[in-house]
Amino acid sequence: MQHFAMKGSTAAILTTIMMFFQVLAIAAAMELSTPQAIFMFGDGALDVGNNIYVPGGAEVGEPTRADQPYYGMDFPGGTPTGRFCNGYNLADFIAKAFGFEMSPPASESLPKPSPTKMEGFTGFNYATGDAGIRNFTNGDITNPLFYQIGFFESTRSQLKTLLGGRKPLNYFLSKSLFVVGIGTMDLFPDYNPYWNNPENDNQTEVQHLISLYGEALTTLHALGARKFGIINISPIGCSPIVMAVTHGEDLCNTGMNNRAQEFNRALGPLLSDLRSKLRFTNTMGMCWQGYGTPCSNRTEFWYWDIYGYMTEHAANLTAAAFYGGRKFTTPFNFTRLFAMNI
Ligand SMILES: *[C@@H]1O[C@H](CO)[C@@H](O)[C@H](O)[C@H]1NC(C)=O
Ligand SMILES: *[C@@H]1O[C@H](CO)[C@@H](O)[C@H](O)[C@H]1NC(C)=O
Ligand SMILES: *[C@@H]1O[C@H](CO)[C@@H](O)[C@H](O)[C@H]1NC(C)=O
Ligand SMILES: *[C@@H]1O[C@H](CO)[C@@H](O)[C@H](O)[C@H]1NC(C)=O
Ligand SMILES: *[C@@H]1O[C@H](CO)[C@@H](O)[C@H](O)[C@H]1NC(C)=O
Repeated sequence: MQHFAMKGSTAAILTTIMMFFQVLAIAAAMELSTPQAIFMFGDGALDVGNNIYVPGGAEVGEPTRADQPYYGMDFPGGTPTGRFCNGYNLADFIAKAFGFEMSPPASESLPKPSPTKMEGFTGFNYATGDAGIRNFTNGDITNPLFYQIGFFESTRSQLKTLLGGRKPLNYFLSKSLFVVGIGTMDLFPDYNPYWNNPENDNQTEVQHLISLYGEALTTLHALGARKFGIINISPIGCSPIVMAVTHGEDLCNTGMNNRAQEFNRALGPLLSDLRSKLRFTNTMGMCWQGYGTPCSNRTEFWYWDIYGYMTEHAANLTAAAFYGGRKFTTPFNFTRLFAMNI
């Protein structure tokens, strides 16, 4: 087990993690294999229903839930599933790329403890709408990243029992894929009071978030994760709601995009030019206002709703870019990741 110094420069911590995997890659014999299971962590872009189970109430407020029309209108059955999308989302297309039918189930939709048997187990998805890297980013109405990791620890104990001990558990986890996509919510000033702290410039806060992210990945590694797919965040300043609030209809908020870019730069390769690269017909507008009737030409839109969640079509193309390209994932594209015999 490799130990990372957590006190030093925050960027250095992540670099150390990346380097560690690169070193493994060099040492690894190439051999094609598919993951035993997929474990996903993140926010609404990867959530497949956990948001429905987050408790709300008078004291904490109501969580944002994708449990009403028109969410899921293009999903098999045409009903809401808790995905912030018209159909399958990014979590599903990543899982599909590895031969699974769709994303593993939302962990919070299952009884505790789960799983109860290995047969049919494909992993769990802990991603929850509105979740951030910081505990208090939307704190009481979501499952922040560190809580999601806590849920995974419970899953892990259960798997250890089912698999018969530490050794088979570690083998199983080393052959599983860990997908993490988070940070967007932490970058919105409304949800993260640190942006308004006069003693904190933007860079200090980005570095702090990256440091926390590094801590989370290090924790997952200590728990047995070996194959990671880290998803960069998108240019939040172009999401429909930001544009509507700050600039009117057709201008992105450059301050916010700069912040997102700073975050991605600190994380690794950029995701931010994905939209232009994929040549979308309509990358600015949204299909659905959040009320009223959605558009009918949904494959022509990048944004599904006003909150900036992607359409099914956008999720499909994004997953394809992760799977095949070399630009949008760190440390490797998923094809390469699973060709490695770690
Ligand atoms: C965030 O929450 C986790 C899980 O409850 C806890 O272990 C951790 O100490 C918290 N971090 C901070 C900075 O409060
Ligand atoms: C931080 O970013 C915001 C845009 O989100 C910008 O308005 C502000 O001037 C920046 N603050 C500093 C200190 O750079
Ligand atoms: C989609 O359909 C709407 C009308 O419903 C039309 O205005 C628009 O040009 C079409 N295409 C795009 C890319 O928006
Ligand atoms: C996703 O894209 C592939 C082509 O890249 C296509 O064959 C498939 O039908 C798409 N799936 C959905 C659900 O749109
Ligand atoms: C994945 O990345 C590797 C190098 O990192 C590259 O050789 C390979 O072509 C990429 N896969 C695809 C399908 O582009």
